[in-house]
Amino acid sequence: MYNFDQIIDRSNTGSLKHDLYAGRDVLPMWVADMDFTSPPEVIEALESRARHGVFGYTIAREQLKAVIVERMAMLYNWQVEPDWIVFTAGLVSAINCICRALCRPGKEVIVFTPIYPPFLQIPSVNYLELVKIPMLNDNEYYTIDFDSFEKSLNPDSGLLMLSNPHNPSGRVHTRAELEKLAEICNRHNLPLISDEIHCELLLDGHKHIPVAMLDKETLNNTITLMAPSKTFNIAGLGCGFAIIANPKMRAKVTDIVHKLSSHPNIFGYEGAYAAFKYGEPWRKELLSYLTANRDLVNKELAGTKLKANSPEATYLHWIDCKGLKTGPGETPTTYFEKRGVGVSTGAAFDAPGYIRLNFGCPRAVLAEALKRMK
Ligand SMILES: Cc1ncc(COP(=O)(O)O)c(C=O)c1O
Repeated sequence: MYNFDQIIDRSNTGSLKHDLYAGRDVLPMWVADMDFTSPPEVIEALESRARHGVFGYTIAREQLKAVIVERMAMLYNWQVEPDWIVFTAGLVSAINCICRALCRPGKEVIVFTPIYPPFLQIPSVNYLELVKIPMLNDNEYYTIDFDSFEKSLNPDSGLLMLSNPHNPSGRVHTRAELEKLAEICNRHNLPLISDEIHCELLLDGHKHIPVAMLDKETLNNTITLMAPSKTFNIAGLGCGFAIIANPKMRAKVTDIVHKLSSHPNIFGYEGAYAAFKYGEPWRKELLSYLTANRDLVNKELAGTKLKANSPEATYLHWIDCKGLKTGPGETPTTYFEKRGVGVSTGAAFDAPGYIRLNFGCPRAVLAEALKRMK
């Protein structure tokens, strides 16, 4: 019913993804947004709000909180209280605020690498120390190194930042992994910040488990971050939210969000409501389309020097390019740019030698990119 094959011209729209290669024959397959239009109901909601014509300071309406509460119950059977929801102007902004709210300067922020680049950058801008725990990599299947994680803990440990599903590997952490992780965090009184922005983009029937809902103790020790932005391709609308059951944590985070961050955009609220309320048929078709795209990447790269994993979630493929013969001073990213494909560089994720390929695009574009890469 929805036409994900349609190629949409994004030039002259200020697209971060496309403008990087403006005027060059390079297919942009890097930053994590998709080249699809959002669900029609989202577009209609934005048009309707624009027609109202008054765009003053805006807060989230109760109906938006209600639709999020309903969604948590529908998707995960998680009973969330409306008061637990704290809206933010996107999740990078939320993570910065959480670092400020929960850690005094000098505390340590733990991340599992490779990881979404802002996780590596946010601690230092908040006067915090970054502690990197490399994930275990079994033939491109990434898991948490629990022993190293626990050994790293000390009185200066401030918080753990988790990405689940994991960007860039596309792993969906299992219940057993989450239970083990939560148990360690709870035992050490280490707040767990679970960034679940990709949680509605699960492929192959994988099921997302919000770590906070495992048990009462974990709920009390965890901040969950979610947003409609990746799922419904509305990252430019700048709206995300934290779910914080612990009242003390919530008060601290809310205070910093108010002092440090801008309000989410009016259109962000409107887009989020329409997406969550009406976007399910679109999301279901999107997931089938992305699964077929993911399978195409697996098929085309099989047997080449590029070692691709098969992501369980998201529209991002994490590819080991260490087998590639690059020239002097050349990285895998510049190598592919020369061949007309713009990918994210693994070094930014703390993994030189890797690239991240965004396959959230019409299949014909993906097929052309894969042809150029081979
Ligand atoms: C794990 C993760 N968190 C956060 C973000 C960005 O969030 P926002 O655009 O809401 O700041 C991304 C975007 O790719 C992401 O992958």
